[in-house]
Amino acid sequence: MKGRLTLHRDFAKGRIDRRIYGSFIEHLGRAVYRGIYEPGHPEADETGFRGDVIKLVRELDVPIVRYPGGNFVSGYDWEDGVGPVEKRPVRMDLAWMTLESNRIGVNEFAEWARRAGTDVMMAVNLGTRGADAARNLVEYCNFPGGTKYSDLRRSHGVEKPHGIKLWCLGNEMDGPWQICHRTADEYGRLAAEAAKVMKWTDPSIELVACGSSNARMPSFGAWEAAVLEHTYEHVDYLSLHIYFGNRENDTPNFLGRSLEMDSFIKTAAGICDYVKAKTHSKKEMYLSFDEWNVWFHSGEKDAGIEKWIESPPRLEDIYTMEDALVVGCMLITLIKNSDRVKVACLAQLVNVIAPVMTEPGGPAWRQTIYWPFKHASQWGRGTALECPVNSERYDSAEYGGIPWLEAAAVYNEEAGEVVIFAVNRHLSEDLELEAGLFGFEPCRFIGHTALFNPDIKAVNSAGDEKVRPALQSGGSVEDGKLRVLLPPASWNVIRVALGDAGRP
Ligand code: AHR
Repeated sequence: MKGRLTLHRDFAKGRIDRRIYGSFIEHLGRAVYRGIYEPGHPEADETGFRGDVIKLVRELDVPIVRYPGGNFVSGYDWEDGVGPVEKRPVRMDLAWMTLESNRIGVNEFAEWARRAGTDVMMAVNLGTRGADAARNLVEYCNFPGGTKYSDLRRSHGVEKPHGIKLWCLGNEMDGPWQICHRTADEYGRLAAEAAKVMKWTDPSIELVACGSSNARMPSFGAWEAAVLEHTYEHVDYLSLHIYFGNRENDTPNFLGRSLEMDSFIKTAAGICDYVKAKTHSKKEMYLSFDEWNVWFHSGEKDAGIEKWIESPPRLEDIYTMEDALVVGCMLITLIKNSDRVKVACLAQLVNVIAPVMTEPGGPAWRQTIYWPFKHASQWGRGTALECPVNSERYDSAEYGGIPWLEAAAVYNEEAGEVVIFAVNRHLSEDLELEAGLFGFEPCRFIGHTALFNPDIKAVNSAGDEKVRPALQSGGSVEDGKLRVLLPPASWNVIRVALGDAGRP
């Protein structure tokens, strides 16, 4: 099978905001306690944070991490998590029916983020709380001193403000499962007023309003329009969330699911533009895809989980090779829409539907999905190029016209490279990829890395990382034409250097 791409230096889709390679840590399952934080573990530092986990997170080069939820944030009192640890209360977390000890709060998490080389994207509680708690938290985190909450922070031993720039106005407020779920008008009004006082407290912050929890919500579309009519001038991003699964065990259909993500983005952007026109605004609304991943393996196992204990193992999906392909297709979709999507968070980062897993007292290891994420984060920086894909297509149970070849291309001006990310969705045939590189000559082939496994259900485990990327031979660039062979059911990164530098 063949597939063709046509790339031109002058045809750029958009500048990639590095924050599309963000992730997420929620007070949920073993993400925080027995995940990033495990005092007594041989790899734990003096604060109790696991150094082996930090190392793997650093390798992923995640620019932002959303915190502390998720559903958790809608019942969270941030004040419980600051001040002397021994005085912090144990609370019932009604989102996940667990006990929350509050040993980790905003100051500890900001410290973890600093050690992990990332920035915090903070969510405020617009479920049980409102504008007042939200603006107090901004003051606590970002105001230098001389006021009630900034001095409270200083009295807690944190002299310098955290300077948190990106804030979520609640989480999934359209979902009936949410603590204090609201109608679109109720949420829109609350979000607008919270946004005003938060920005008055710190005008440098950026805000994300809640869009729909997923595109299959009955209120999708109407929710976005109503919320934005209340908030358009006060916020900077609209959020999108999506999780995909393969409960039917229909791999060709599963591999097509990223088409749904693409159409979700385009529809949400269209609604933003509708509200822009309706309100005669000059402002462009951007998108924050702040939860996305594959999530379905843990479903049945979690149904019987014990309630009211701390950090039970929950949402611990063990990812297969095919899940890594879907994550790869989702990353390609984010890159292709980087003119509109400026923030995105792989949900989540450690133990909970995560690329990084840990064993209590034992090792930390990389799931299959770690690899496409790391590759995109490492090499997908710069400008996304228009990347028309010429490929045969197939139909599946739910989708029509799925291209066998999924691809995006990035021009990294700083590194002097063009990088192509590509998935061959065909389960049994190689795909001969040919790409025309116009306006980039002279250029030379650097290398082709691929992730694949003859067993599409192969998984990694501690000490046995079966699914790992490997360098491929046979690729070439001649006269501005790239040729590589993509193995069946594979994720691929192909790098081309511009200019003559390094030519033997
Ligand atoms: O990421 C897991 C959960 O999924 C989050 O808490 C919630 O926002 C979403 O429904």
